[in-house]
Amino acid sequence: MDTLENLRAQVLAQVEQAQSLDALEAVRVASLGKKGSISGLMASLGAMAPEQRKDAGARFNVLKDQVTQALTDRKGQLEAQALDERLARETVDVTLPIRPERTGRIHPIAQVMEEIVTIFAQMGFAVAEGPDIEDDFHNFTALNIPPEHPARQMHDTFYFGAREDGSRHLLRTHTSPVQIRTMVKTPPPIRIIAPGRTYRCDSDMTHTPMFHQVEGLVIDETSHMGHLKGCLTEFVRSFFQVDDVPVRFRPSFFPFTEPSAEVDIGCSREGGELKIGKGAGWLEILGCGMVHPNVLKACSIDPDKYQGFAFGLGVERVAMLKYGIPDLRTFFDADIRWLEHYGFQPGDVPTQAGGLSR
Ligand code: DAH
Repeated sequence: MDTLENLRAQVLAQVEQAQSLDALEAVRVASLGKKGSISGLMASLGAMAPEQRKDAGARFNVLKDQVTQALTDRKGQLEAQALDERLARETVDVTLPIRPERTGRIHPIAQVMEEIVTIFAQMGFAVAEGPDIEDDFHNFTALNIPPEHPARQMHDTFYFGAREDGSRHLLRTHTSPVQIRTMVKTPPPIRIIAPGRTYRCDSDMTHTPMFHQVEGLVIDETSHMGHLKGCLTEFVRSFFQVDDVPVRFRPSFFPFTEPSAEVDIGCSREGGELKIGKGAGWLEILGCGMVHPNVLKACSIDPDKYQGFAFGLGVERVAMLKYGIPDLRTFFDADIRWLEHYGFQPGDVPTQAGGLSR
């Protein structure tokens, strides 16, 4: 049995000495592979006398298991070693400053959405979301815009093809369907804002087919128009960072609110420069009102018990006003020079204490 002991010693030494996974694999093939030395021993069992075979077979199997185990152990060591080397080689110094030529910019839309969310979050609003692809019920009917209502025409809706039941999905024309989704699944009190993309089949100097809105909704037993005015006045002053900006609520109409209002803020246009604050002019910035009882009913909320307010504002519009961006369409040109000019530094997360802008 000397040959067996020699073979054991030889193969185990080779396993121990293998310095790479490839070298180890070569040892495996030479011993346990189809034409390997240990496989050869196994094959020789067939020619042995039964008595001898039993004894030899047991010993060959012990050898085979031993070598298999040694291969597995060595493989583990080599892999761990390779990982250690890689970790040592690929260290990154996270304290190094960003290379100036590599800095990306936060798009003004993303920045302004963050600013808006920050302000409302501080007033206790939670962020809610809904899908871009909506159905007729959430985008229109539940918002008190039944089929054939003239307000549907105003929305220039992108429709998808008819489904089997004849209904057609659409790209949401406003963020108001998120109101419905929230009311249907959460019992009052509700206090949410819903930032997101919206779509209308419209494209000119002041319209792009995709744009952004932020929707707000408050439902409880006591919130009234006074709270709505207070909340939006506070928002406008925080957002534009002008403490005494005049805010005006002008009667208006939306099917989903009653009464409805549009909110204007004061501005001046002296010397051709638009400035937010006290002045002779007014700029319309958002729509709002008390949630219509029909909307509450559509969400199975009792309008005799609950009430509240809602508002919707265009993100591009307030971004243009706040940061002096003159042309709406440039937001979506993906022009790197534009982004370098109007974009924001990634580290500058908006906070109310930090001033909410650059
Ligand atoms: N959904 C309206 C639009 O897209 C904006 C709006 C107005 C939303 C008044 C509201 C609201 O929630 O109360 O024009």
